[in-house]
Amino acid sequence: MTTPKKLFIKTYGCQMNVYDSERMAEALGGQGYVETQTPDDADMILLNTCHIREKAAEKIYSELGRYKGLKADKPDLKIGVAGCVAQAEGQEIMRRQPMVDLVVGPQSYHRLPEMEAKTRAGEKALDTDFPEEDKFEKLKSRPKAQRGPTAFLTVQEGCDKFCAFCVVPYTRGAEVSRPVDRILTEARDLVERGVREITLLGQNVNAYHGAGPDGSEYTLAKLIWDLDKVDGLERIRFTTSHPNDMTDDLIEAHGTCSKLMPYLHLPVQSGSDRILKRMNRSHTADSYLRLIERIRAARPDILMSGDFIVGFPEETEEDFQATLDLVEEVNYGYAYSFKYSTRPGTPAAERPQVDPAQADDRLQRLQALITRQQRDIQNSMVGRTVSVLFEKPGRLPGQMGGKSEYLHAVHVADAPVSVGEIAQVRIVDAAANSLAGVID
Ligand code: SAH
Ligand code: SF4
Ligand code: F3S
Repeated sequence: MTTPKKLFIKTYGCQMNVYDSERMAEALGGQGYVETQTPDDADMILLNTCHIREKAAEKIYSELGRYKGLKADKPDLKIGVAGCVAQAEGQEIMRRQPMVDLVVGPQSYHRLPEMEAKTRAGEKALDTDFPEEDKFEKLKSRPKAQRGPTAFLTVQEGCDKFCAFCVVPYTRGAEVSRPVDRILTEARDLVERGVREITLLGQNVNAYHGAGPDGSEYTLAKLIWDLDKVDGLERIRFTTSHPNDMTDDLIEAHGTCSKLMPYLHLPVQSGSDRILKRMNRSHTADSYLRLIERIRAARPDILMSGDFIVGFPEETEEDFQATLDLVEEVNYGYAYSFKYSTRPGTPAAERPQVDPAQADDRLQRLQALITRQQRDIQNSMVGRTVSVLFEKPGRLPGQMGGKSEYLHAVHVADAPVSVGEIAQVRIVDAAANSLAGVID
C-alpha cells in the first residue's frame, strides 16, 4: 500500500470558502490525499483565498512567503492558490510568487485531480474558467465519514447585483442555483452522517430559483419547506440574503417553519439613501426598515444581523449619521462593519475617496454602537430558556458548548448531553462573546 499524501488547506473569507475547501479536500482525496493540520508535513498546500478587501488579498502573498523554506527543503511540495484571489489575479499570482504550482478559480476546482497530476509531472496548472459542466455533479465522490452536527450546503452561487464596491460578481460569476433534488440528496447524506443543522449558502441565497423535481422553479422558501420534511434534520439557516430578494413566502416561513431558526443576516451597507444609490444597492434605508418590520411581524423574536461599509467614496458626516440612526432603529444582535476598501475594476474605485483617518473614526464609532447593542441583547437573554444544539466539549472538564437558535454561543457546565443533542437551556450569565446556561 502506498502511504497517503498529505494535504494542508488554509481557508480565508466567507462560509462558501469553508464549504469549497471541504469539496476540494474530497476531490483530492480521490488522488490519495488525506488532510493534515499543519503545513510542515504537507505534500500539497492549498490556500483558499478571499478577494473582498485589499488586506484579505494581500495576506495571501505574505502567507505564501512563509512557505519558501518548506519548498526549499522539499522540492516535491506542491503549492496551490484557490478561491477568489485565484479568480481575480490568475497568472499574476505565479508571476509574483513563482513557487506557486497551481491556481484554480472557484468555478473550476472539480478539475483539481487533473491539475494536481499536471503539477506532479512538473508543469504549472492554471484554471480560472467558468466552465459549462456542473462542478457539483463532478464532485459527487463524497466519502461517507461521520461528521459534526452542523454543516454548510451551497445552494446558490454568484451574484448579478454589481454593488459598486464589490468584487464578488467578478470572482464568483453570474448567479446560478443548484437543482432541488441534488440539494435534498446532499442534505439527506449529511444527516445520515450526523448533521443536525444545515446552513444553506449563497452569495444571494434568497434569490435562489433552482429547478424543482417536476421542472418548476423553486423559491428559497419552497426549498426550505422540502428540507423541513427531512427526518433527523432539526435546524435550517441560510445566508447571505439581499433585502430586495426577501420574498413574501420567505418572510412567512420565518413565522411558520419551526426548523427555520430565528436569525437573519440581512446586510444593508449604509443608512444614507444618497450613498445606497451610489452603491447601486437598489433599496433605500426606509424600504429596508419596513422590510424588517414585516419580518418581525412574522417572527417577533428574530435576531437581526447586518453588514456595513463606512467611508464609501463621497460619504459625508451626515451620511454616516444616517447609518448610525438606522443601526439605532434596527437594534442588531450581530453586525459586521468594514472600512471601505478600493477594489480594482469596480465602479467605486474611480471615485473621490474619503480621508482614511475620517473613515477610521467612523468605523470606531459604528463599532462602539454595534458592540453596545450586541451586549444589551446578549444580557437580555439572561433568565430566558433557549434551545441549544451542542457542538463540542467546552474548555473545562464536563463543559459542553453549542449554539442557541439565535446563534449565540452557549456553554453549560456538567452538561448531561452529548454532541449533536438539542436541549433546553436556561441562561444564567452573559459574557462578552458567550452565554452560560444550565439544563434544569
Ligand atoms: N453577498 C453578500 C456579502 C458580500 S461580501 C451580500 O450581498 O451582502 C460581505 C461583506 O463585505 C459585504 O456585505 C460588505 O459589507 C463587505 N464588503 C464588500 N466589498 C467591500 C469593500 N470593497 N470594502 C469593504 N467592505 C466590503
Ligand atoms: Fe457583492 Fe452586492 Fe452581490 Fe452582495 S449583492 S455579493 S455586496 S455585489
Ligand atoms: Fe471572499 Fe470570495 Fe467569499 S471574495 S467573501 S471568498 S465570495
